[in-house]
Amino acid sequence: MPSFANPFQGNVPRKMTKEELIQSIRLDIAGELEAIFLYDAHVQATDIELAKRVIGDIRDEEKAHVGELMTLLHALDPKEAEHFASGRAEVQEMMAELGLHPAANREGDAKPTVGSLLDQ
Ligand SMILES: [Fe+2]
Repeated sequence: MPSFANPFQGNVPRKMTKEELIQSIRLDIAGELEAIFLYDAHVQATDIELAKRVIGDIRDEEKAHVGELMTLLHALDPKEAEHFASGRAEVQEMMAELGLHPAANREGDAKPTVGSLLDQ
């Protein structure tokens, strides 16, 4: 018999407040990350190419779901989005210092484009 997770873990089963919705989205993101972890473990644990391809594709779709949920979270909580952006900028600065992200955040240098990122 299947055992489904409680969709209202941390919340009560009624219309949620915005704050409760934000918390539920964080829980949803955690679920997506867990799914990525499990699918990736299964890809690594088989040599059957078809299984690797199908499960790997599903794993990558879960990554897209993380992106959707993160975007939704940041739309609902712009302050949290600022914290994420701050952290991203710190790492990008370290990457630039190490020459790993060529001049992406240095003043006066061109910002990366989709095309320039594809060339890397
Ligand atoms: Fe998903």
